[in-house]
Amino acid sequence: ATPAAARAATGGAGGAGGAGGAGLAGSAEGAGRAARPARGVTLRARPASVSLGRRTVSTWAYGESLPGPRIEATAGGIVRARLVNDLPAPTTVHWHGIRIDPRMDGAPGYTQQATRPGGTFDYVFEVPDPGTYFYHSHVGMQNDRGLYGPLIVEDPREPLGYDEEFTVVLDDWLDGISGTPDDALRRLNASTEHDDTLRSDLLGGVVGELVHPYHLVNGRTPDAPAVFTSRPGRLVRFRMINAAADTPFRVALGGHRIAITHTDGFPCRPVTVDTFLIGMGERYDFLVRLGPGAFPLVAEAEGKRARAFAVVRTTKIAATPNRNVRLPELDGRILTYADLEARGSDELPRPARRVTVTLGMRPSGNEWTMNDRLANDPMRLRVERGETIRIVLDNQSPMWHPMHLHGHTFQLRGTGWGGPRKDTVNIKPRERLNIDVKADNPGEWMFHCHNLYHQEQGMMGTFGYG
Ligand code: C2O
Ligand code: CU
Repeated sequence: ATPAAARAATGGAGGAGGAGGAGLAGSAEGAGRAARPARGVTLRARPASVSLGRRTVSTWAYGESLPGPRIEATAGGIVRARLVNDLPAPTTVHWHGIRIDPRMDGAPGYTQQATRPGGTFDYVFEVPDPGTYFYHSHVGMQNDRGLYGPLIVEDPREPLGYDEEFTVVLDDWLDGISGTPDDALRRLNASTEHDDTLRSDLLGGVVGELVHPYHLVNGRTPDAPAVFTSRPGRLVRFRMINAAADTPFRVALGGHRIAITHTDGFPCRPVTVDTFLIGMGERYDFLVRLGPGAFPLVAEAEGKRARAFAVVRTTKIAATPNRNVRLPELDGRILTYADLEARGSDELPRPARRVTVTLGMRPSGNEWTMNDRLANDPMRLRVERGETIRIVLDNQSPMWHPMHLHGHTFQLRGTGWGGPRKDTVNIKPRERLNIDVKADNPGEWMFHCHNLYHQEQGMMGTFGYG
């Protein structure tokens, strides 16, 4: 396979398309290493009409497609992506989960300026680790308008034998239906602590579907679902990405148990479950040996009466599953982080010291803090280059926070537990979790909640060293 080549999505699901642009010769500066020859991809961020199946909406997207084009690379190879900004606002591309050169991280105000309207920026970087990643705008709520897409880094020495793979991108959809994500954020910021209805609308209450009326699989609503076509008996790898702004999902595939094999790109010891939760910014890979028929792939929006839905089909004649079907799998064995363990070779050294990061909510209910600080005067964690440090994430607020650290993959750990490697971890209300991080990629890195509303309401700190 060609490293960094952009291709249409594997499998028949709606969504990714619009493959790569012209070669971007001569822009290897910043990658630092001899690149293997690679074809470039052009990401044209622009106002676009996109089809969600039965509806067409006006939004911002990469090219014409939602999700944006699937970008594929090989571990150790170079990705070249030219951002062309045809939006009326500055934008960036962040390569979520990649242990990247900080100058290419797409974190505006940290190591690069956002690309202005009419401008271009050449992202050129090595992808050191195989796995399932994604890219998205890192300016305000732009990600929630549809500026996201999958980034798949193949492992030439892949130990799993499987017959085919499907990429599944989940989203909650607001833009063009009940205002833009920026309108929603403004309403939220203007709300008071007594305005409970609005808050529960926006932040996942039972009427959350009023604000995020649709939940999408690969850009398709449940009434015109994505269809993944395979054959009975095939061993299929699903690469699932949660690109939603505000929705953790509970996922199951009707008639099947699933074997979780990777968390946020990294292999874990495989665990078989009926269902699992996926927070915003998280990725899970799982293997399924498919039976004969047509099966519902359901992602229940946790805390909302809504779901994303797709169909996995292995025979032509089976009836299409009902999108509202109640799956017994959803009540079955649910994966918890404690079930997961890193592969031995991915264990990090034991940390010599620890710091606590308290996740909090101010009484107004629309300011979210890290160690009592907001993004405009952020918490700054200073660490020593080369050290491994334990960060105790202590959620003292009533909401979930999928915390994401740029430029690194940390390890969840407890007493006697070498948990999975991840870059995003969903901390439940009143829960505490340890993450161990090795400071092996110098820079000034964003460390924030991947609930985009929380991120924009202050929950953004930094993790840095030189
Ligand atoms: Cu996917 Cu800082 O984000
Ligand atoms: Cu949060």
